[in-house]
Amino acid sequence: MTSACGDDFEFEPAERIARDLVIACPGAYLNSESARNECAFGIGRSATLFDYTDGLIRWGRLDTSEDVDFDPSSHTDLTKLGSLTVRRAYLSMFQFLGEGTIEKIDDGTIILRMPVKFRNAMSLGAYPEAFWWNANLWDAYQGTTEIVFVFLDERIVAIYLTGRDNARLTRDPGPLVTDWTWIDDDGITQPYAAQFSYIFSADNPYVAELEEIADGFDFAMRAADCTSCHVPSNPAGLRHVGLLNYPNQTLGLRERLVVVFETRSMPPGMPLEDHVNADLLERAIAYDIVADLAIAFEAP
Ligand code: HEC
Repeated sequence: MTSACGDDFEFEPAERIARDLVIACPGAYLNSESARNECAFGIGRSATLFDYTDGLIRWGRLDTSEDVDFDPSSHTDLTKLGSLTVRRAYLSMFQFLGEGTIEKIDDGTIILRMPVKFRNAMSLGAYPEAFWWNANLWDAYQGTTEIVFVFLDERIVAIYLTGRDNARLTRDPGPLVTDWTWIDDDGITQPYAAQFSYIFSADNPYVAELEEIADGFDFAMRAADCTSCHVPSNPAGLRHVGLLNYPNQTLGLRERLVVVFETRSMPPGMPLEDHVNADLLERAIAYDIVADLAIAFEAP
């Protein structure tokens, strides 16, 4: 452990976040989707977690059992996600079992370690991306024992899944379905937890417009081949890949999408035709504006 000051370092925001998580997502409740939904709602109400997660968050696995550098820029294989997506759809996959520990690592870095248990018995559409396709990744989620929140200069910049309890590897999600997104027998687009209808509240007045803009924008980005690189397999080897598969993933990248079309920097070294880029820029700007309104509506 690289802790300079040992456990029990006092940092009020981390204490509040720990308390909010345990109240919203107690370990006493089972693996059920209704418990998860209550947890997602409760986390969404945490003003402290909201206040401390204003940028893109690096999310992924990191072995923190040995001395480790908590700065996400020292690690590859992390995903970039927006705050609302992380708070509602990702953290809520876990039950928070206790108030955890707070450690000061160095002058700029504080970590909060929370003991957790993954909800592995939900329907497959309840997971906000189809990571269960990959047995290693699924087992990493199932076996996770701890979530580590990293505060750099008092902002949460990364959230790592760590630890492994093999006794928790109790579910094999079974054979693969045909695609990352699928329509179930009731006509619902799955994974449902990846859709805006899950990320946003039912009474959010901006979601219908956002969905309409996003549909056209996603289609145009696929046509421009953006998803050949911005996918979990990360064929271009980005250090921290920003995914463009699902609505919940694109949401956090909205400002950067405007920038890449303004600067004509994507795909790298292969600028799009003028009219294609102009169309994407217009869509990106509309998406960014309406997404900001929709997200602001969710502020606790
Ligand atoms: C050939 C692979 C490839 C393709 C195709 C590609 N990208 Fe990228 N993208 C990258 C790489 C590599 C980076 C990182 C570049 C850097 O940091 O300079 C990146 C970075 C980005 C970023 C910035 C993310 C951030 O966090 O700053 C955005 C947004 C983005 N790409 C969007 C797109 C869009 C939209 C398209 C389709 C028009 C696209 N990309 C097509 C490889 C690709």
